[in-house]
Amino acid sequence: MIKRILTVSISLLLTATSTLASAEGNASLGKSQAESCAGCHGADGNSPSGMFPKLAEQHASYLVKQLNDFKQGRRNAPMMAPLAMGLSDEQIQNIADFYESNKIKPNRPPVVAIDDDDEDGMDEAAKKAAAEKKQAERDELLAMGGGLYRNGDLEAEVSACIACHGPYGEGNKPAAFPALRAQHADYLIKTLTDFKQGKRQNNPENIMRMIADGMSDEQIKAVSYYISMMK
Ligand code: HEC
Ligand code: HEC
Repeated sequence: MIKRILTVSISLLLTATSTLASAEGNASLGKSQAESCAGCHGADGNSPSGMFPKLAEQHASYLVKQLNDFKQGRRNAPMMAPLAMGLSDEQIQNIADFYESNKIKPNRPPVVAIDDDDEDGMDEAAKKAAAEKKQAERDELLAMGGGLYRNGDLEAEVSACIACHGPYGEGNKPAAFPALRAQHADYLIKTLTDFKQGKRQNNPENIMRMIADGMSDEQIKAVSYYISMMK
């Protein structure tokens, strides 16, 4: 399985390099064409809410692919489909170039929700102990996510994310493998769960579906928090 994924990724890489890398749009036109997107994705593609993915600094090749997938119904997203349908190929390219030219902003450290201890009625020492416990659990979750990102999980047939998304989460532009670093954790959790449940299946050869299928909910959460802190 892992071998198959690797072979697929290499052949994808080769075809993608020859077809996607050539397009060139107009980022300053794209800026005005992306005005209607700002309400959800932020004026520069740094969306303020984890419900909406950040688009800033994302590879234009990947953005173009996603917008066409929304437009043609390959990626199911009720909010995005009608918007993408209103865009011409040229507008899509310009908007993608505009977002790629912006810098992505880092996230604040995640507040990991752990079974809510009732803090009322705790004395100072107990509050401090609870805070330390939360910190330790967060560190543990991030470490688990980092391990999965770098090494995958052989037993569960989850390949290492680093192979395609890069050591810094920078992705791979010619292959249209998305950059992931500093993306909102909530969006990452949602989209990985969509892959796992087969709700998102627009990726070539269903690679991400196969990978997410092997991940537990805990692993999805851990790797998402880890990625959200990469810069
Ligand atoms: C009403 C809110 C809203 C508006 C306005 C909006 N989007 Fe989105 N967009 C979303 C949501 C929600 C998603 C995530 C869909 C999902 O969960 O699969 C998304 C996803 C995307 C993605 C995929 C990102 C990724 O990392 O895969 C792209 C690209 C995108 N939008 C571009 C645009 C562009 C370009 C516009 C303006 C023409 C726009 N959006 C306007 C809500 C919005
Ligand atoms: C063999 C290459 C490969 C490996 C390994 C891989 N990915 Fe991906 N990933 C992709 C491709 C290709 C896409 C784009 C799919 C598409 O076109 O919609 C993607 C998309 C994603 C997305 C969606 C990004 C967005 O903005 O919506 C997330 C999140 C993601 N991968 C996380 C992971 C994680 C976590 C791992 C490791 C457990 C991983 N990937 C391993 C190739 C890979």
